[in-house]
Amino acid sequence: MKQARFRNFGEAQRDDWALIDARFRDYIDDAPRRVLAHLHNLAGDHHGYPVDRYEHCLQTATRALRDGADEEMVVCALLHDIGDDLAPANHAEVAAAILEPFIDPLNAWMIRHHELFQGYHYRHFFGQDRHAREQYRDHPAYERTVRFCDEWDQASFDPDYDSLPLEHFVPMVERVLGRAPRGGLPEPLPKESLPEETP
Ligand SMILES: [Fe+2]
Repeated sequence: MKQARFRNFGEAQRDDWALIDARFRDYIDDAPRRVLAHLHNLAGDHHGYPVDRYEHCLQTATRALRDGADEEMVVCALLHDIGDDLAPANHAEVAAAILEPFIDPLNAWMIRHHELFQGYHYRHFFGQDRHAREQYRDHPAYERTVRFCDEWDQASFDPDYDSLPLEHFVPMVERVLGRAPRGGLPEPLPKESLPEETP
């Protein structure tokens, strides 16, 4: 497959960037598949919980769907813990980073803060303030984040729940992550439009 030949960016020419840009767009289009493949990494180890994180994610998404949440919210529910294996001390940031370019900023805020909000249900067992989420009481995403955690996330550790299979959610993930990223992507300029200082 064709690839650029430069050894450093100082040698790279417009046609190199055009070639790389074309490949990058294919790579972005394939991102939903890679995200879903990564979700499988959460299967297997329960970490002491009644269900593993993969089942927890399916169950959270299923509950959201059955409660009438919109597609974007269901996808948020499915992917909200996808960072658990790579960033166990900071997992919410991973899901927020993956989803943020494609979703409502309030939903991205919800994902980013879900760990603190979820803490209402366990922080007191660790000598922490379970009401810490109240500092965000006036935030426009407060109510949805409370609902996300109280009704779907913290409730989804039931080994006997009839969660829908991942296949049910695949088209939803493809549609949400297949949206144009907010702000768009820069495209290589045509040769005749390049600035003068371009080598
Ligand atoms: Fe969760």
